[in-house]
Amino acid sequence: MSESTNPVRYEVEGAIAVICIDNPPVNAASQAVREGLVAAMARFAEGPEKVAVIHGAGRTFVAGADIKEFGKPPTEPMLPRVVDTVEAQEKPVVCVLHGTALGGGLELALAAHYRVALRSARIGLPEVNLGILPGAGGTQRLPRLIGLIPAVEIFTSARQVGAEEALELGIVDALSEEEPRVAGLNFAAGILARGDGPRRIRDLPGPKVDAEAVAELRAKVARANRGEIAHLAALDVAVKGAGLPFAEALAEERKAFTTLMESPQRAALIHVFFAERKAAQLPELKGVTARPVAHLGVIGGGTMGGGIAVAGLLNGRRVTLIERDAAAAEKAREGIARTLADSVRRGKLTGDRRAELLETALTTSADNAALAEADVIVEAVFESMEVKREVFATLDRVAKPGAILATNTSYLDVNEIAAATSRPADVLGLHFFSPAHVMRLLEIVVADRTAPEVVATGFALARALQKIPVRAGVCDGFIGNRMLRVYRLAADHMVLDGASPYAIDRALTDFGFAMGPYAVADLAGLDIGHATRERLRPTKPAEERWGDWPDRLHALGRLGRKTGRGYYIYDAESPRGRPDPEVEALVAEERAAKGITARALSDDEIVERYLAAMINEGARIVEEGIARRPLDVDVVKIHGYAFPRWRGGPMHHADTLGLDRVLATIRAAAAEDAHFWQPAPLLARLASEGRGFASLDED
Ligand code: CAA
Ligand code: NAI
Repeated sequence: MSESTNPVRYEVEGAIAVICIDNPPVNAASQAVREGLVAAMARFAEGPEKVAVIHGAGRTFVAGADIKEFGKPPTEPMLPRVVDTVEAQEKPVVCVLHGTALGGGLELALAAHYRVALRSARIGLPEVNLGILPGAGGTQRLPRLIGLIPAVEIFTSARQVGAEEALELGIVDALSEEEPRVAGLNFAAGILARGDGPRRIRDLPGPKVDAEAVAELRAKVARANRGEIAHLAALDVAVKGAGLPFAEALAEERKAFTTLMESPQRAALIHVFFAERKAAQLPELKGVTARPVAHLGVIGGGTMGGGIAVAGLLNGRRVTLIERDAAAAEKAREGIARTLADSVRRGKLTGDRRAELLETALTTSADNAALAEADVIVEAVFESMEVKREVFATLDRVAKPGAILATNTSYLDVNEIAAATSRPADVLGLHFFSPAHVMRLLEIVVADRTAPEVVATGFALARALQKIPVRAGVCDGFIGNRMLRVYRLAADHMVLDGASPYAIDRALTDFGFAMGPYAVADLAGLDIGHATRERLRPTKPAEERWGDWPDRLHALGRLGRKTGRGYYIYDAESPRGRPDPEVEALVAEERAAKGITARALSDDEIVERYLAAMINEGARIVEEGIARRPLDVDVVKIHGYAFPRWRGGPMHHADTLGLDRVLATIRAAAAEDAHFWQPAPLLARLASEGRGFASLDED
């Protein structure tokens, strides 16, 4: 490697070797970095320098292995070898941690003999988020350094530990206020002055194993990560390694790491890691400047408007919220105050900051003129085209020139809403999810005439509010809700054919969804689904099969959790809901009236059909350009609809299953209902060409 391409620089400062890793953006431990480190260690071993300092250039120490290399054949020198080389040095090596020292970065530091952290540094072993475990000694060194339970807690939770806590736990030896190079030089000078030598974690005794504490933690980790394999594998290998000589413990870790590396969960989670980042960057917005987003206006202070206002306040925006009258405005303010109090209770906000936000950053009013200064105004009034058009006509009068006018509509035509103004280029959809200050997904709905800089501002606002933005085109329900309607219909069909709603929910939670569709509907309210069906009824094709039973439940006033009864019964005995025989009776009545003989559906069939309906509609959405790429669909379903992240989203999951198999499910189901089960042309084409959806994810 030539000097100019080597991302690892070696400089000499008196008796100190200063080794700088410079591999933007996050100093990932790529092949070149690993090779550079081995070469630097060789030079240090042979040279006259007495101490080595390893630090990172730019924003961070090494943020981990280079994730782009995962799934490709491994290249030498592999990280465990690099790490062993560092630890084996006969002269002391210091690592300076700043930014985010994560994964392989922290493992490198654990192999060094001393660690200094900048006060702002955050460290962690987040590998389980990618479906793997720390594979360069992390599961063995950290427990030997700080004890088994605290170490396992860190790498099974994937949390980032702040520098102060890292010092208290004994992960780092000192904190510094200096910039990384200086911090390292100062620490190394101390080593020289004291004449300290190397100090290796591998020489420490194995950590004590408290079987009861391990069992307790194991149960907790299993509960929190249902369906995932990496967390328990990491815990188990740490426990196993505790009783083994260090070299054998490392070999066990490597074995477990390699197994996970080959798992579909690893492939899925890495797909999601990159999908989330790609979704947030639209190639067509390169070089397009966003407008300012300092002052957020919100119209409608109900469930969504209140949540959007809180998201703005928590992220440093000024917020002006408009309600219909003074009493409603006051009610909205009280709701926001309650949500912020909740944030204080959760430790996300101080009491003083909450008071300051309510006093100085939030304005609530019944006068639309108060929106005159807002940069972006998000409308969250009732889901009615008439009401929304009226609101947008008003906004057209009161908003300043250049203000962005956004609608949070769930389904309605954003072009029609934009046409109520004289400035359709400034109008777009910003579809938040409930609760809006918590859910990270934001569909950015681009209408026919939305200007590029308005789209860019939508993305910039998403970033400012810590959301994951996904571009969507205009259609009924955009990406997420349009798909939801179709797979929910598939579920309703399966109920008519013989499955109980409870069997469907159970099969889908076993697959990995946090909740099944009927439990979700109870949470959202049966009135929402009913309103959607009523809206679509006039245009419903005659052949489309709808069950009447959800509307009959609605007519009985069973609106879900809020009325104590929906698809499930909610009461003191079962606050999370229990099946209701009356619902099954209602369904049986409808089957009898329609002459349907109930048949048994296995859990596998339920899951296959439900997912096939989801994937098929996802393919149509991609083909129509409503979603730019399949990965956008995956991000929407994972972040807005609780699709299990470790399965990678529906389109990635389709690739894992094989598109032929998805198509076969659709064709088999079409024998019963040829109208509903028409294969999306894109799905059929990709399957016939032997390609997957991933082939469309490239730009
Ligand atoms: N490898 C390759 N690229 C990476 C990367 C990694 N480990 N981490 C981040 N990047 C890339 C991102 O893809 C992004 O690239 P683009 O700009 O081209 O999209 C860029 O770096 C910046 O990343 P973010 O947008 O995420 O920036 P951020 O400031 O919000 O967050 C971060 C920075 C906290 C480091 C975050 O990127 C992150 O969490 N990265 C993953 C860290 C991780 O999981 N490390 C463990 C890796 S596994 C491992 O180390 C295995 C082992 O034991 C051998
Ligand atoms: P909501 O009924 O809780 O709140 C609507 C609020 O708007 C009410 O407080 C009402 O007083 C106010 N309002 C009505 N007309 C107004 C006007 N002209 N000026 C000022 N305020 C007015 O409704 P919710 O659930 O907050 O929904 C709002 C919008 O967000 C709808 O379009 C809905 O489809 C969409 N949405 C809802 C989601 C949800 O889960 N509830 C999720 C995503 C989008």
